[in-house]
Amino acid sequence: MAEFTLPANSRVRQGVTHKASPDAEQVKRFKVYRYDPDSGENPRLDTYEIDTAKCGPMVLDALIKIKNEIDPTLTFRRSCREGICGSCAMNIAGGNTLACTLSIDDIKGDVAIYPLPHMPVVKDLVPDLTIFYAQYASIKPWLQARTPAPPDSERLQSKEDQELINLPSACILCACCSTSCPSYWWNSDRYLGPAALMAAYRWLVDTRDEATGERLDELEDPFRLYRCHTIMNCTSACPKDLNPARAIAATKRMLAERRL
Ligand code: SF4
Ligand code: SF4
Ligand code: FES
Repeated sequence: MAEFTLPANSRVRQGVTHKASPDAEQVKRFKVYRYDPDSGENPRLDTYEIDTAKCGPMVLDALIKIKNEIDPTLTFRRSCREGICGSCAMNIAGGNTLACTLSIDDIKGDVAIYPLPHMPVVKDLVPDLTIFYAQYASIKPWLQARTPAPPDSERLQSKEDQELINLPSACILCACCSTSCPSYWWNSDRYLGPAALMAAYRWLVDTRDEATGERLDELEDPFRLYRCHTIMNCTSACPKDLNPARAIAATKRMLAERRL
């Protein structure tokens, strides 16, 4: 079994090891980041040996097994277990993803699990997403129209118009993209990040929305939009196979065309 070891300069210390029972058939080691900011102690990496023959197939199943059977103090978010709510996003085996849709069998060797990177940690695997949600709210993610809706129907769209918003609407706000973006790591107080920018794009291309000019005005800023340097980590990280980098590029193009 390939062993995960901490880098020599890490502030994270090795924690306790919870051994598997002697009759375990298939042992897999989960190295899980533990941190309680109120304790005043540095973070540690606890090791849990799990018999995967007696565990569900996904990484989230292993975390739930650890919490239920070994260590009830382990803290993480989860809700749907179907890749829909976005709450189980974390850094697993070196990449941001959803714990509920990543198969344990797809990870070779030890499974290292950390919270989403470069965010304050509330506890263990739970990042503080306050700024992330505030950025989402700042793009006004709702329909803005001055024209009243028809009295006897909804605001209908053609199939082609609906297809424009189909993919960007599929974002589950898991934050895997923004927390994998180097520009966001260093400027998250001023750069909106790929998740909020793709949400902004979703309303820019919605043919029912009548605030396109105001929305573009809000984005035309050296930090809010233009801190994106097309590094593409966001698109690689998205567990829903969405393409925030392309949405950002299309937004920049809309602004450039407006200046012509
Ligand atoms: S393309 Fe690169 S810089 Fe732009 S949002 Fe994605 S990861 Fe960040
Ligand atoms: S674009 Fe993808 S990675 Fe980013 S928040 Fe939405 S679903 Fe998550
Ligand atoms: S628990 Fe909802 S996306 Fe994983």
